[in-house]
Amino acid sequence: MKKFYITTPIYYVNDKAHCGHAYTTIAADVFARYHRLIGDKTFFLTGLDEHGQKVSQAAEKSGKSPQGFCDKQAESFKKAWQQLNISNNGFLRTTDKEHEKAVQKVLQILWDKKFIYKGQYQGLYCVECEQYKTKNQLINGKCPEHQKEPEIMSEECYFFKLSQFQKELLDKIINNIFIIEPESRKNEMISFFKNEKLQDVSISRKNVQWGISLPFDKSHTCYVWLDAFLNYLTGLCWEGDSKKLPDLWPPDVQLMAKDILRVHSTIWPGILLALGISLPKKLFIHGFFTINGQKMSKSLGNVIWPEQMVDKFGVDGTRYLLISSLSYGKDGDISWQKLTEKYNADLANGLGNLVGRVIGLSQKIGLQPVTAPNAAGKIRIKDLDKLFQEFKLKEILDEVWKQINWADKFIEKKKLWDLVKTNPEQAKKDLSELLGLISEIGKAITPFLPETSEKISQILKTGKIQALFPRV
Ligand code: MSP
Repeated sequence: MKKFYITTPIYYVNDKAHCGHAYTTIAADVFARYHRLIGDKTFFLTGLDEHGQKVSQAAEKSGKSPQGFCDKQAESFKKAWQQLNISNNGFLRTTDKEHEKAVQKVLQILWDKKFIYKGQYQGLYCVECEQYKTKNQLINGKCPEHQKEPEIMSEECYFFKLSQFQKELLDKIINNIFIIEPESRKNEMISFFKNEKLQDVSISRKNVQWGISLPFDKSHTCYVWLDAFLNYLTGLCWEGDSKKLPDLWPPDVQLMAKDILRVHSTIWPGILLALGISLPKKLFIHGFFTINGQKMSKSLGNVIWPEQMVDKFGVDGTRYLLISSLSYGKDGDISWQKLTEKYNADLANGLGNLVGRVIGLSQKIGLQPVTAPNAAGKIRIKDLDKLFQEFKLKEILDEVWKQINWADKFIEKKKLWDLVKTNPEQAKKDLSELLGLISEIGKAITPFLPETSEKISQILKTGKIQALFPRV
């Protein structure tokens, strides 16, 4: 039996889940469901990044203790994922005691092996990113992600000897031992490794209380990113021993957007190399949503929240709309207007209407869907497996929707509503083919729209029509 281990980033708990987080989580869910269907031993991990300055500042603002604040936020994320029918197997919070213990073990090992040393750091720190920035990374002196000037920080801290892994990491990326997809993202990292000298990274903070303390110097807490990366191991109940790795290790794919590609292809594999642990097989990097052409941000007041989408479009409607809004490796722009139009065109008038129409016509000539001769379907939707291997989720949906459009045209061309009266024998043949196609569409969309797939299978079995996607 093949195994399939997939992860999402663990999200910061300073705010609740927005549609960008929901996109990554739904995409991972689609892969996990697909791999379960093809019989792989599948584990899907997601979770929350709860330590660090950004979270403790948010807690302070809300008047709660950091732990109390995190607990409340964790409930809100869990609720959001339940609502979106996310089938994660693990949910790792970095404040879990077992995780904290394993992180401390790792820190001790890295210290004992002399991969960590004490030094003095001076740099520009963006609290929003929880990262030091180099001057080249800033635009007009500001962090391009957050439009904020980073703070100058100077502090005694501990460093991890990342610089020594430059060549090894570059080789592994070039030779696809550590795969980065799409190709453009791989090339971006190759040129980074070729043009910039990898620096040692600071892995501790003296002034941040809300974190895991270093076992060899309790006056420091662990840098939030190092703590966070280890979730991918502790989420499988790993206890910190590099000789005792979980069976599911390494991740087959780690899903994320481009904002955190750099850290995931430098610090993260660097730590693993230092520990002598095999690297993830693949990072898959997707694009970013913008809203009406603008960065999604609370201060601009343009954030689209998943629960608002679920209220309007239903669970499967939301899953469909988010997945089909990002083409392979590209950014995508969304707005309420575009989402509503797409929902009505593809789901209400598209899939929903097709199913209703075909079942309705079949009933007119007494064709029992379940006994229709072609109900098993001819394989029209080709290469789904290949598209899944290539992470082309929107492209799979496009393939399926081509068949829906084909079926609509077929009904129009054949004037099936007349044919059931004038030539019931021919109508029976045509409708059988359409029922077969619907059954096949129902199967193809299972990982994307699990509830709709189940409903279609029920409709085909019982012949009872139920509205799939009411117009909005
Ligand atoms: N806590 C870190 C990750 C640590 S992983 C060891 C973090 N958290 S985050 O809450 O900022 O989440 C970033 C991720 O959320 C992105 O990589 C992406 O998966 C998702 N997205 C956040 N905004 C997004 C968009 N506007 N569009 C698409 N995905 C987005 O970074």
